[in-house]
Amino acid sequence: MTTLVKAWTAARDTLTAAEVDSPVIDARLLVEAACGVTRLDIVTDPHREVSAEQQATLDGYVERRARREPVSRILGRKGFWKIMVGVGPHVLSPRPESEVIVEQVLAAFPEGMAFNVLDLGVGSGAILLAIVAERPAAKGLGVDVSEEALANARENAANLGLDGRIALLRGDWTTGLADASFDVVVSNPPYIPTAVIEGLDPEVREHDPRLALDGGPDGLDAYRTLAPEILRVLKAGAPFFVEIGFDQKQAVEALFREAGADGVTTIQDLSARDRVVTGFKKALGI
Ligand SMILES: C[S@@+](CC[C@H](N)C(=O)[O-])C[C@H]1O[C@@H](n2cnc3c(N)ncnc32)[C@H](O)[C@@H]1O
Repeated sequence: MTTLVKAWTAARDTLTAAEVDSPVIDARLLVEAACGVTRLDIVTDPHREVSAEQQATLDGYVERRARREPVSRILGRKGFWKIMVGVGPHVLSPRPESEVIVEQVLAAFPEGMAFNVLDLGVGSGAILLAIVAERPAAKGLGVDVSEEALANARENAANLGLDGRIALLRGDWTTGLADASFDVVVSNPPYIPTAVIEGLDPEVREHDPRLALDGGPDGLDAYRTLAPEILRVLKAGAPFFVEIGFDQKQAVEALFREAGADGVTTIQDLSARDRVVTGFKKALGI
C-alpha cells in the first residue's frame, strides 16, 4: 500500500535525480494536488492510504516536473502574495520577487484610501489583483499587448471577485492613455537580454512566454519607453514601482532620472538583490 509519506519520498527522490532545484517542496505540492490533501494532512496523517487513481495522477505530475515543467504550469495555478492566481501558457508564472511591488504599494496607500493603479504588462494579473484585493476602495487598470494574457487575467479577476474594480485593456504599454490619470503605476516588464534567454533554466526558457522575458539586446528596451511614459500618465507627486533585473539598478534609475522623475531609488528583495526602482513624478509647483 502506498501512503502519503511514501508517495512524497518517492516523488522527492525522482525530482532530486532530475536535478530539480527544490525537490522537497515541489514533491509536497504535487502530492497535495494529486491526493487532494493539505500540508497539515501529510504531517499529521503520513500513513493515510493513497489510492491507485491518486498515485497515477501523481506519477503524471512527477514525470512532467522531472522534465522540468514548473509546478505552477502542471497545476495551472500559483500562490502569489495572499491570492491564488491561475497560470495559463500565455502568461509569466508570477515570481515571489514581484511581491516587493505589492508590499510597497500597500505601504504607500493605506486601507480605505481610494486610488487608481495602472499595471503595465499585467500578464496573469498577479500584481494588480494582489493590490486591489487588499484595498477595497482601489480601482485598477491592467494593460497587456497579449490578448491571451488578458483573457487569463480576466479569469483570475472574476475568480477573485475583483472584476468589478478592474479594467483590462489590450495595448502597447501606455498608448492611448491620458496624461496625469493614475495615482500609482506599477510594471514588471520583460527585462532579460535576448542572448541570455537561451542559457536560462528550462523551467523559464521553455515555459514562460518569450514576450514576457525578452527585453531586447541589453534588456532595457521596455524601460526606455516606459520611463517617460510612466511619468506622463502619473498624476503630479504620484509614485511608480518598476521591477528590474538584479544588475539593472544603475541603468534603470538613470532612465527615470533623465525622464524627470524625483526621488529615484531602488528597493531590494528578500535575497538582498536590487529588485524595484521607485520614484515620483514631480509635484506641481516644484
Ligand atoms: C514579465 S511579464 C509580467 C507579468 C505580470 N505583471 C507578473 O509580474 O507576473 C511582462 C508582461 O508584459 C507584457 N508585454 C510585453 N510587451 C508589451 C507591450 N509592448 N505592451 C504591453 N505589454 C507588454 C507581456 O505580454 C507580459 O505579460
